[in-house]
Amino acid sequence: MNHDNHHDKETIKKFNFVSKDRKESYEILIAELMVGAYSFYTWPAAKILAQFIFYMRQCLVGKNILEIGAGTSLPGILAAKIGSNVTLSDSALLPKSLAHIDRICNLNKLKPGKDVQVVGLTWGMLGNDFYDLGNDLDLIIGSDCLYDIGIFEEVISSVAFLLEHNLKATFICSYQSRSSDWSIENLLKKWNLACRNIDLESIGKETGVDMKDLMGGHVIYLLEFYRKH
Ligand SMILES: C[S@@+](CC[C@H](N)C(=O)[O-])C[C@H]1O[C@@H](n2cnc3c(N)ncnc32)[C@H](O)[C@@H]1O
Repeated sequence: MNHDNHHDKETIKKFNFVSKDRKESYEILIAELMVGAYSFYTWPAAKILAQFIFYMRQCLVGKNILEIGAGTSLPGILAAKIGSNVTLSDSALLPKSLAHIDRICNLNKLKPGKDVQVVGLTWGMLGNDFYDLGNDLDLIIGSDCLYDIGIFEEVISSVAFLLEHNLKATFICSYQSRSSDWSIENLLKKWNLACRNIDLESIGKETGVDMKDLMGGHVIYLLEFYRKH
């Protein structure tokens, strides 16, 4: 599909979420660009987090959800379709990535600034962008944000800040394991956080989806981060 220079080599992918009884279904359209940047491609972990959003859909109606490092934003767009109040974010230093999120919102008939908010939020840069989010988030989500050990502390410190200012919220994050040497234990301790593993098998059973299949040969975990008291 060819729109203009910026959207050269754009591919539109369809992602379907269908309940077991087939009574409820959502089709999400995601535009991907063949350029060498992380934010224009839907990473395998995004499908896992989106499946969790679908599994939780009844509890998420009307909830305030922030997606960080959203990239092509599959989980957040699905949450908006389900009826959550969604803010999608990616690095404020990547205006093309933020414009691409706008494009994906429009593709799914969600008006940026009205049906869904799109904001720049850069991990480790705890300035006004973070304060402007207020303190009424119910949930923070992120897929494949911990993709490089070099950015772990920026992500975890930003999550710690958000959880400190949004006392109802936890951070649910799909994590693709890329190296068994990487560990977050020390950072969790430093930032006063704890983390638990969410059982993917029961999500698969409940939604009728083979989660291993969805991972496409990768090892992906779904983790919930929360503040230690
Ligand atoms: C591996 S991609 C994952 C994208 C998307 N969540 C997915 O799973 O398909 C990492 C994402 O983090 C974003 N990112 C990288 N550095 C960032 C930073 N310092 N602050 C906020 N987002 C950042 C990238 O732009 C990209 O969208």
